[in-house]
Amino acid sequence: MNDDLSRELLISIAGEYGTPVYVYNADKIKSQYDRLSRAFQKLPVRIFYAGKALTNINILRYIHSLGASVDCSSINEVRLALYGGIIPEHILYTSNSIPFSEIEEAQRLGVHINIDSLSALEKFGKRFGNSYPVGIRVRPNVMAGGNLQISTGHDKSKFGIPIDQFEKILKVVKKYNMHITLLHVHTGSGISDADLYMKAVNHLLDIVKYFPDLECVDLGGGFKVPFKEDDSEADVDLIAGEVKKAIDNIQTKVGKKLQLWIEPGKFLVSAAGYLIATTDVIKETSTVTFAGVDTGFNHLIRPMFYGAYHQILNLSNPEGQLKKYAVVGNICETDTFAWDRDIPEIREGDLIVFKNAGAYGFEMASNFNSRFRPPEVLVKDGEPILIRRRESLEDLVKNQIISNKI
Ligand code: LLP
Repeated sequence: MNDDLSRELLISIAGEYGTPVYVYNADKIKSQYDRLSRAFQKLPVRIFYAGKALTNINILRYIHSLGASVDCSSINEVRLALYGGIIPEHILYTSNSIPFSEIEEAQRLGVHINIDSLSALEKFGKRFGNSYPVGIRVRPNVMAGGNLQISTGHDKSKFGIPIDQFEKILKVVKKYNMHITLLHVHTGSGISDADLYMKAVNHLLDIVKYFPDLECVDLGGGFKVPFKEDDSEADVDLIAGEVKKAIDNIQTKVGKKLQLWIEPGKFLVSAAGYLIATTDVIKETSTVTFAGVDTGFNHLIRPMFYGAYHQILNLSNPEGQLKKYAVVGNICETDTFAWDRDIPEIREGDLIVFKNAGAYGFEMASNFNSRFRPPEVLVKDGEPILIRRRESLEDLVKNQIISNKI
């Protein structure tokens, strides 16, 4: 098991596939998966990997091969998972602000469905009555997670049906005699506080008794991973212990067993990912030394979008003297990965690496400034495997139509 890829391997991958390049470590994904499975082993748990973190089909297939199902946040993620050979029973679909036709498609495809609004619940009941089991995503009105942007359970969040509208939920469910098998809550991303996590869980468990057909409770994802060396991390053993107590308690009250579903994204893939870039320009000014690299927020937007911290290492000069840098991208906007960061001296041509880039890295990449999205390489059993090619000009123009009216 190799939890961290060696500098030599990263350098050789950059040599073979060029930069920028995303690299993922299968061993690290597996060790995180095993950690989580162990933590929850005393419960009948099903792990649904939140594919939105990194949807490369090979990653979906790899995590599926470890035993996980897949949580999909759009109908296209569902199609992608099916395309990757994952069977409908192993796919969960939870989307929001969508046309009802997408939910109908998910039903046709036979996947598990989780409903996010009263209006969709009403439409689902009217269309399918009790003929198709369905879940309900509840908004617990609890503020948790990294920041407002990635917190989804608070009382102004667009996600889920507010728990205070519980009477309305029940009314619709009764009206159409709906077959509600799943209750779901996801409070946000980057949660390390077990008490807050449990607050949302307990709100959900409080309403279990009203759903006689219930088979599972889904507590979402959001387990925090450390980004800085001294960062806190979700204590999954502690959380699993608390969840077990709460579920045992509710099972006694309602007199039946419940399955537990969880939906980790970051926890499985974040630390497994690296983005390697080449430093093309060092610009010394009277105030700042810029290290300009051949990537930007078009490839890793988390620092600019959320103020997220990603450790940056100099692969080419790890023993160099520490100096302060602003590490900036090559996009025609202020795309600063890090201000005032101490890094071993960076010279033009040096390879640098952004760590913890596996989750929401490539996945949130774009073609801004008409730049190509990078290749992706998965290291499995020590072997680097190309799982996505670098884009080319053809990719940029393939859907553009040169009109003869112009
Ligand atoms: N389940 C649901 C319903 C979700 O909405 C999410 C994430 C997850 C599970 C997985 O959460 P995770 O375990 O990855 O924290 N782009 C942001 C994170 C957005 C999360 C969106 N939903 C970031 O880069 O921090």
